[in-house]
Amino acid sequence: MTRKVYIETVGCQMNVLDSELVIGSLRKEGYSLAETAFEAEVILFNTCSVRAHAEDKIYSALGRLREHMNEHPEKVLGILGCMAQKDQDKILKRAPHVDLVCGPGQLERVPELIEAAKASGRPQMALSLGRKEATRHDVEASFISYDPIRDASMRPTPFQAYLRIQIGCDKFCTYCVVPSTRGPEQSRSPEHILSEANQLVDQGCREITLLGQTVNSYRFDHGDGRKTCLSDLLIRLSGINGLDRIRFVTNYPLDMTNDLIDAVRDLPKMVKYFHVPAQSGCDEVLLRMKRQYTISQYDEMRQRIRDRAPEASVSSDFIVGFSGETEESFQKSVDIVNRSAFKNSYIFKYSPREGTRAFDKYVDDVPEEVKKRRNNDLLVAQNQQSLFLHRHWIGKEVEVLVEGLSLTTQREVKRLGFLPHADSPVQMTGRTMHDLIVVFDGMPRLAGSMAKVHITDTTAFTLFGQIATVENQTTLNEKQMAQARHAAARFNPSPTPKEGNISLPMA
Ligand code: SAH
Ligand code: SF4
Ligand code: F3S
Repeated sequence: MTRKVYIETVGCQMNVLDSELVIGSLRKEGYSLAETAFEAEVILFNTCSVRAHAEDKIYSALGRLREHMNEHPEKVLGILGCMAQKDQDKILKRAPHVDLVCGPGQLERVPELIEAAKASGRPQMALSLGRKEATRHDVEASFISYDPIRDASMRPTPFQAYLRIQIGCDKFCTYCVVPSTRGPEQSRSPEHILSEANQLVDQGCREITLLGQTVNSYRFDHGDGRKTCLSDLLIRLSGINGLDRIRFVTNYPLDMTNDLIDAVRDLPKMVKYFHVPAQSGCDEVLLRMKRQYTISQYDEMRQRIRDRAPEASVSSDFIVGFSGETEESFQKSVDIVNRSAFKNSYIFKYSPREGTRAFDKYVDDVPEEVKKRRNNDLLVAQNQQSLFLHRHWIGKEVEVLVEGLSLTTQREVKRLGFLPHADSPVQMTGRTMHDLIVVFDGMPRLAGSMAKVHITDTTAFTLFGQIATVENQTTLNEKQMAQARHAAARFNPSPTPKEGNISLPMA
């Protein structure tokens, strides 16, 4: 009997990548993917702690599995990721049927831990050191960048991939768990990154998204006086034949240098897009958040992007209802949305997190109803901006990397229970070079191709159009094509970094 593993992933792109890699390594041990937890021998949750909601979802999923696990003591139930690092043995206290707790800095041990849990019948833990538990060097060493050989079959689509260039975070925003769950900021060497990118392109990958919590703080010290920053890296990655598009997330406003903006503008393969969260439009709130910039510095950075790369899209994140946020300070977040022309914003209600500075120091004093209202008000303001920006594209022709079936088609596929033929006329979706979502009539065969689409209509979230031309050759072979069609059926066209309130629902 082949061994089966089931995995559920919440959280940001880092987690999506980690899950891909963990499953890749388990495949090498002879595992295949199960569709449901009940048919799997190993059940894994790759977790997120950024907001309470993300953790609650996992704890209730664990509750639902309690009886099943008690009936099947031979099975292994594992908690991976940020919640594992944050809650540690608290997880075992709340859910004693868990067999494995493994933080994001120890994922390479997952196959070995599964075997140990099976052999001993006792829970296994693999965690990195706390930020104050040892010297920086030792803490860094306990967060191992997990980047084994890539397995194309584990990705949502074979032609798009995430590539980690940095782990951890050193910014310590007062509301945020990430610096403790992901550890100290460390940049990977350009050689490792380039070799992984080449490997991905050999596997049929056309678009790579570089990942880092503050990706534009990327800086690799070669130890011989040479340093590589993000713009240097982009130039080198641009030289890879067969790679068509390069993106990177998430940016930190103070590290948005001119050389980076110019690289995005000038390098033809760069997607003209900066995700650079403001978090709030009010200086007092930013100070309590310890974001380390003022609104005038953010505005200056936004203006520099306008001046140097006028075409580039910019998007943001906001937290509403942070401790001490008054109506007046919230209004300043609405104001910054109204003047910044963000393509979209991800908006979150403040969720106090144990272990963060804000949790210890400030009271969560904005009532839930007020957070909700502010969240909606900010969404309304953002959607007006989004609609205005999207309208600019009506009548124009854009180049789209076709990602897969549109959400409407995906729903239809689910309802009917079978996949459309590669040549069936269905609605497809993709993204432009400015990171805008486009929906158009096409066929599954187009997944992974570049198409020119003439834009005829728009909402605040999605452009609609007709295909003008498709590049005459898809780079995918038959096997990859079949995989793309399967993937397309379960692929969310916009893998968003976070669940939460997104100002851009999909088509
Ligand atoms: N490193 C990225 C992303 C961090 S987490 C960055 O710095 O932008 C993604 C987003 O979640 C953050 O940008 C922030 O808007 C939100 N977030 C983080 N902690 C939160 C909390 N405690 N409550 C609500 N939203 C939070
Ligand atoms: Fe969290 Fe701030 Fe680091 Fe982003 S920059 S991961 S919000 S601490
Ligand atoms: Fe969540 Fe960890 Fe990412 S807390 S947002 S999964 S870095």
